[in-house]
Amino acid sequence: SQAAKPRHLMSISDLTPSEFSALVRNAAARKNDVKSGRVPRLSNGLAGETVAMMFSKRSTRTRVSTEAAVTMLGGHPMFLGKDDIQLGVGTPLVNESLYDTSVVISSMTSCMVARVGPHSDVTGLAEHSTVPVINALSDDFHPLQTIADFLTIHEAFPSSQSSNGSLNLSGLKVAWVGDSNNVLFDLAIGCVKTGVDIAVASPQGYGIPDHMRQLINSAASGVASPGKLSETTVPEEAIRNADILVTDTWISMGQEAEKQKRLKAFAGYQITNELAKRGGAKEGWKFMHCLPRHPEEVADEVFYSPRSLVFPEAENRLWAAVGKSRSTYLYEYKHQANLFP
Ligand code: CP
Ligand code: NVA
Repeated sequence: SQAAKPRHLMSISDLTPSEFSALVRNAAARKNDVKSGRVPRLSNGLAGETVAMMFSKRSTRTRVSTEAAVTMLGGHPMFLGKDDIQLGVGTPLVNESLYDTSVVISSMTSCMVARVGPHSDVTGLAEHSTVPVINALSDDFHPLQTIADFLTIHEAFPSSQSSNGSLNLSGLKVAWVGDSNNVLFDLAIGCVKTGVDIAVASPQGYGIPDHMRQLINSAASGVASPGKLSETTVPEEAIRNADILVTDTWISMGQEAEKQKRLKAFAGYQITNELAKRGGAKEGWKFMHCLPRHPEEVADEVFYSPRSLVFPEAENRLWAAVGKSRSTYLYEYKHQANLFP
């Protein structure tokens, strides 16, 4: 009999709105249960399973949260940095192909978590894998970050918590001020799916590419009251009436050579108290950033203020990775249950 095809997580766009909300709610439930001592830290959902973590770029949060989550579920996280395995995208004469790597690693493990440059590297792994592949950041998307970010928003806005525990974020407004990048794209898709409006301010030439705008807007299909995406080059315009101000580095991994050009292009986009005031953010506005942070995109007065959610946001990467009461996507795959609740 043919093995069931695994389901992969490449982007938040792979999830229905209810699957996405369920991952956020389950992360919240697991966090509360473990932190309050109601359930033990260690469960055996992944006992005997190995999760291969293939990282071609540096990572603090994604690596540590994934390793810790797999450990909490009783499995073995196997970290494979780019110098540890034979995979060598771009140097096929010397190193092993994506195809061979994917077939071999998936034959020995239960899940692959991969951090790559071009998004096609992670979709290529997924295409040939016999086990679920989870995108741990590509040039286009960062789904694990988005799950943690919505957990953070859910916790910071208690009015968003309806009595049945479901997500009710409709009416909130996020302002993204800075580069239009991988972290933004999945965040925007999550916003559209959950009814959160998102206004993006990026300098000319650093806006959302057309194909990505289409993908973000198409996340509205089947959503009763989807969040709206708006775009501008004027930070103040995006910030007006925003509940949450969000940014990320102006120089993503792989863009180091453009540093000087980018610092110039993004001048005036630093998030400061003065900018938030000028723009007319809501009185209780909060600040978020996926980290790692560079000083230029946000002032210390904001980053280290009581408005800042950045450290709970980082910790929430762990709870997002643990996800469900006793399992991850992987557990359900192994047990042929629904991949997502
Ligand atoms: N936010 C995030 O993904 O951080 P790392 O690059 O440290 O994993
Ligand atoms: N946009 C950043 C996010 C890092 C977590 C990068 O791609 O480097």
